[in-house]
Amino acid sequence: MSADLAAQDSREHWGSRIGLILAMAGNAVGLGNFLRFPVQAANNGGGTFMIPYFISFILLGIPLMWMEWGIGRYGGRYGHGTIPGMFDRLWQNRAAKYLGVLGIVMPLVVFIYYTVIVGWLLGFAWFSITGDYFGNTTAESMSQYLYAFQNIHDTSQHNGWIGFMFYGITIAAVVYVLSRGVSGGIEKLALYGMPILFFFAVVLMIRVLTLPATAFGSPSEGLAFVWTPDWSALGNASVWLAAAGQVFFTLSLGMGTIHTYASFLSKEDDITLTGLATASTNEFAEVVLGGTVAIPAAVTFFGVTGAMAIAARGSFDFGIIAMAVVFQSLPGPQIVGQIAAFMWYALLFIAGITSSVALASPAMAFMQEEFGYARRKVAVGIGAVALALGLAVVVWNQQGWLGEWDNWAGTFGLVIFAFIEIWIIRLAFGVDRFWTEIHEGADLRIPGFFLFTLRWISPAFITGLLLWWGWVDMLPALLMEGIPPEQIAIRWAARLTMVGMLLVGLLLIRKAWQNPRRGLGSAPRGAAREVV
Ligand code: PHE
Repeated sequence: MSADLAAQDSREHWGSRIGLILAMAGNAVGLGNFLRFPVQAANNGGGTFMIPYFISFILLGIPLMWMEWGIGRYGGRYGHGTIPGMFDRLWQNRAAKYLGVLGIVMPLVVFIYYTVIVGWLLGFAWFSITGDYFGNTTAESMSQYLYAFQNIHDTSQHNGWIGFMFYGITIAAVVYVLSRGVSGGIEKLALYGMPILFFFAVVLMIRVLTLPATAFGSPSEGLAFVWTPDWSALGNASVWLAAAGQVFFTLSLGMGTIHTYASFLSKEDDITLTGLATASTNEFAEVVLGGTVAIPAAVTFFGVTGAMAIAARGSFDFGIIAMAVVFQSLPGPQIVGQIAAFMWYALLFIAGITSSVALASPAMAFMQEEFGYARRKVAVGIGAVALALGLAVVVWNQQGWLGEWDNWAGTFGLVIFAFIEIWIIRLAFGVDRFWTEIHEGADLRIPGFFLFTLRWISPAFITGLLLWWGWVDMLPALLMEGIPPEQIAIRWAARLTMVGMLLVGLLLIRKAWQNPRRGLGSAPRGAAREVV
């Protein structure tokens, strides 16, 4: 039996095509679609934002989606479900696997703070059922409620630890799903969760769009705000950066999680059509569902200016506080508001939990495949690490721990990672060879336009973006410009923790590559390299 076949046999696989699509959609559809997107759109001029958004989607989003599916399936063939092994295969250079550390540590960092947010949403789903926050009908009193809930030191609303308890439940749920494996856990979660999510979203969309106008505004004013294009935006650098950043985040690109999911495909499995289906599903959830719930609802009750003022204070103020006020203002008895609110926060929780599972999956696969640890052990270990570091996120949230991690791992990191992978394909592996690779088993022949895009436009676009962004946003962030002095120490602690995690990751990679059993059933170095 050849080495790559041995590798295939010992790997887990997706149970069905629909399961795969829903799992991949579950990976991509997340808080980014329902919390981050509306706020990014509102802060960047609504319709103004949508133009660079769609251009980035076509020129970077879709090509990268195919690229990451292709790299993932290719790596899986050699028993590697994570980036170090994949980069090592694509680029025969000793440094390649070490660059891959980003594809394990970044998703783990995002996993830890992302699940903290998912825990808050679980809490709000619960408080919607119990009606706990009802009565806080202004944005001010709702903010106080939320901030007290988030703050472990604040007992004015609840026991300070109650927020952390919801975090613990969230982590336990993720550990459970991961320990059930790829088709028995991740795929099952998506098969049940995604239809519920879409159902809740459609119900909420209909409710919001049929709201009567108030003295402040109406749903149609909200839609007009998002959908009226302003071509002058094309000359605005910060709108481009925000739009491209949103495309990366929402599609889960530049992280390593799409690769890990795609590594559970077989060589004959289609990736062109299925990858496109995933990206389209995500855009439907983002632009249609994400765009027609929060913004029109907030504009109806706060007006365009009021809604923008709340959006300027961030995703949680918009998606949690403003929406909680909206649900309390719905026509009808309170129970109607409670049910609608529950649907909103539960939908966010489901969107968040399926993405959380994805974010933990590279670390899972790495420890299982490169070190041979049992699945359950690794799942529990990741849960323990998350609980410990998540406590830091919770305790120092006000001092910017979460914000610091989100800047580096959740915003800039994606572009840096995508830059590396695009250039590895472009310079080391070869675009033509890669084109053949992604068409292996394909149900859709990708138009030649995208071959040209992959070869010229995407590399140029990502390089320009990285330089531009580096100059405009990353450098000031690195120097902590504009950060309140009381946050500096904690932000440094958050940063150093991330650096520490990267170092541990590098050591583990070195150890894995010294160990002859690396890569379940994978071939010894140098052998069976050229298969395509
Ligand atoms: N795409 C997810 C969202 O929209 C977040 C995510 C990013 C998940 C990267 C996995 C990897 O919320």
